[in-house]
Amino acid sequence: MQDTNIAPTVTTEFEKEVYSGLTDYPKHLSSKYIYDKKGDKLFQDIMAMPTYYLTNCEYEILEQNKHEITALFSGSGTFDLIELGAGDGKKTKILLKEFSDKKIDFTYVPIDISNNALNQLHDSCKIELPEVNVQPFQGTYFEALKEINTRKNRKVILFLGSNIGNLMHDQAVGFMEKIQQLMQPNDLLLMGFDQKKNPQTILDAYNDQEGITAAFNKNILARINSELEGNFDLEQFLHWEVYDPETGTAKSFLVSKIEQTVRIESLDLTVHFKQWETIHTEISQKYDDQIIDWLAKESGLQLTTAFQSKTHSYKNCVFKIA
Ligand SMILES: C[S@@+](CC[C@H](N)C(=O)[O-])C[C@H]1O[C@@H](n2cnc3c(N)ncnc32)[C@H](O)[C@@H]1O
Repeated sequence: MQDTNIAPTVTTEFEKEVYSGLTDYPKHLSSKYIYDKKGDKLFQDIMAMPTYYLTNCEYEILEQNKHEITALFSGSGTFDLIELGAGDGKKTKILLKEFSDKKIDFTYVPIDISNNALNQLHDSCKIELPEVNVQPFQGTYFEALKEINTRKNRKVILFLGSNIGNLMHDQAVGFMEKIQQLMQPNDLLLMGFDQKKNPQTILDAYNDQEGITAAFNKNILARINSELEGNFDLEQFLHWEVYDPETGTAKSFLVSKIEQTVRIESLDLTVHFKQWETIHTEISQKYDDQIIDWLAKESGLQLTTAFQSKTHSYKNCVFKIA
C-alpha cells in the first residue's frame, strides 16, 4: 500500500527511503545505498588505506586463529557458512581456504545488498577456491533472515568488518535477537567488533586526506543522480566525520556548502538545503566488553570465545544461543 504523503511514483525500497530521508528533519540516507559498482570499488580502496586499520586487524585475527576457528566451526559436522554483508570476502577467504584444504564439508552462502559485490565474489571463488560450493543470495540483512530460515543445515553465521556498527544499538539488538531466534544449540555466530580507542585513530580511519572516504560517502548522491534522475552537485557537499568517545559512535554526514535546491525527477521531489544543512549517512559504532556483553544478553546470546588483534583495536567474538 502506498503511503498517502509519498508520490505515487515511489515504489522501490531505495526510492521510498530516499524520499522519506530527504523530506525528514534532520535529513538522512541509509549507508546501505552507498554500495553499487562504484561504491564497492571505493570501499575496497578504503580497506587498502593504512589508516583504515579495521581490515588489517580482522585479517590478522582470522589468519592467526584459523586453526582454532576451523575446529570450532567444524566440530559438529556439515554446516552452511552464511555471511551477512560479505563484500569482497577478502578476509573470509582465509577461512574458506583453510576449510577447503582440510576437506571440511560446508556450503558458503554470502549475502549482500550489492549484486555487483556478490557476482565478483562468486567469480573470484570459482577461480581461487574451485572446491568451495558457493550459493550467493542478494538482499538486505533483514531479507537474509528469511533465506537463513529456509536452510536446513547447521548454521555458522559470519558478520565481519564490524558491519554491526552500521546499526544503532536498538537496531543491533533487534537484529541479533532475530538471528538468535533462527539459531539451534549447535549453531554459531562470529561477529567483528571495532573497539573504542584513541578518538584520533577513529577519525583518521573515516577521514583520509586523499578524499576516498568522501567519494564513498558522496556515492549515495551519485546513485540518486544516476538511478533516480537527481541533479545533486557533489562538489557542493562536504564529507564530515564526527566521533563521540563517550558513546563510541562515529557518524558520517554530507554537509551542504551553500543554500541550494536539488531536483529528483523520478520521485517528483524538490529538496531544499539551507547552507550547512546536513544529511546523516552512516553510523560506525565502536565497542567495549561491556557493550558486547550487553548486546549478547539483550539478544539471548552467549559469548563463547573472543579473539583480539595484537593492538587490542579489534575483536572477533563467537556466540551461541544462551
Ligand atoms: C563495510 S562493508 C564490509 C564488507 C565485508 N564484510 C568486510 O568485512 O570486508 C559492508 C558490506 O555490507 C553490505 N551491506 C551494507 N548494508 C547492508 C544491508 N543493510 N543489507 C545487506 N548488505 C549490506 C555492503 O554492500 C558491503 O558489501
